[in-house]
Amino acid sequence: HDVKTGAMVVLPDAEAVAQHMAKWLTAQALAKKDGPFVLALSGGSTPRRLYQILASAEYRDRFPWANTQFFFGDERFVPESDAASNYNMVETEMLAYVKVPPANVHPMPTSGEPVQAAAQYQAELEAVYGGKTLEPGRPLFDVVMLGLGDNGHTASLFPRQPVLEEKKLWVSTCVPDDAPHTRLTLTYPAIHSSRHVVFMLAGAGKHEAFARVRAGDPAEPASHITTEGELIWLMDKAAAGQ
Ligand code: 6PG
Repeated sequence: HDVKTGAMVVLPDAEAVAQHMAKWLTAQALAKKDGPFVLALSGGSTPRRLYQILASAEYRDRFPWANTQFFFGDERFVPESDAASNYNMVETEMLAYVKVPPANVHPMPTSGEPVQAAAQYQAELEAVYGGKTLEPGRPLFDVVMLGLGDNGHTASLFPRQPVLEEKKLWVSTCVPDDAPHTRLTLTYPAIHSSRHVVFMLAGAGKHEAFARVRAGDPAEPASHITTEGELIWLMDKAAAGQ
């Protein structure tokens, strides 16, 4: 357990990772008594199984849906009906099956100008936070879920992009030079304002990127993720290189 670079939890396979996360996330959400549980969901393929588990009989009636505010860590600037939309994935795997008040679900807006959509999303976060300035000791998120791309990107913080320099805005745009779609993404300062950041990784394909981030390679956007709370790496043996 290395406090600076984060606690590592290594489990046998992807299914065990998803099951562990479902259990841990539900416990965190149930423990939140002094306000809403504020969650930033990750997209990509890795968390799909987690969302299925949370919508299954075991969790559907136990997870505190009504006390949770669901935000997104990033989004492709495509309509919600597009197969590339993270919201679409979360909706079709989880939200469609559970009793969550519509007002608790915050898809990133994906129409009009991306810069304005980012500002609009920040305003939605400010409303839940109850302020426009992030205060140390009063985190914006209870949990930020993150994935890791081959090139070390996380959320939509892609290598070499100006968003990596963002110090003030909570939400920004990113136009990756090696991946399709303009993106909206939480910025480093927004992610930092969290009680927990959890990277979920599965499969041998993640190992090289993970090893570079773990070694602190500054070229990898994920190397610069920090939190005022606890950073957790939840992964299967293959991703950990075991
Ligand atoms: C997204 C995120 C991205 C993702 C990683 C890992 O795809 O929405 O932008 O950061 O978490 O690329 O993706 P996989 O889980 O599909 O490997």
